[in-house]
Amino acid sequence: MALLPILSYPDPRLHTVAKPVAVVDERIRALAADMLETMYDAKGVGLAATQVNVHERMLVLDVSEERNQPQVLINPELVWASEDRVKNEEGCLSVPGIFDGVERPARVKVQALNEQGESITIEADGLLSICIQHEMDHLMGKVFVEYLSVLKRMRIKSKLLKAQRELER
Ligand code: NI
Repeated sequence: MALLPILSYPDPRLHTVAKPVAVVDERIRALAADMLETMYDAKGVGLAATQVNVHERMLVLDVSEERNQPQVLINPELVWASEDRVKNEEGCLSVPGIFDGVERPARVKVQALNEQGESITIEADGLLSICIQHEMDHLMGKVFVEYLSVLKRMRIKSKLLKAQRELER
């Protein structure tokens, strides 16, 4: 297992649209294990392959308090979203230190493959629903700050670029 470097906004690679995983094999299982290790190390609740510069449709998450319920979703597809929406404060490992409100469907139903290649259906609400939608956005090349106003996004972009320049010094 290994920790993977996480891309930081506004890295243009975060806007890559991921391709479906062709076959769930040892390579994919090893990637899932590395992504989970990286997510736990960074104290995140979810991580999409896009964020570690792998552009295949795959994400990992764990929304449990105890951090002991890892889930791997491969080729996730949204099959249903509720009409009722909720606004929640979101953050992202690719947008460090930034938290802001995003409105999304409250509940979703998602079909995916697990790391064994078995088809699974998840009906999610609460944090799990938000997390799945946030990570699926990453696979479409979308970062949560794109839901915010242009002005807010510009401020976030310049703040993060400044922080990145200071790190490089
Ligand atoms: Ni994110």
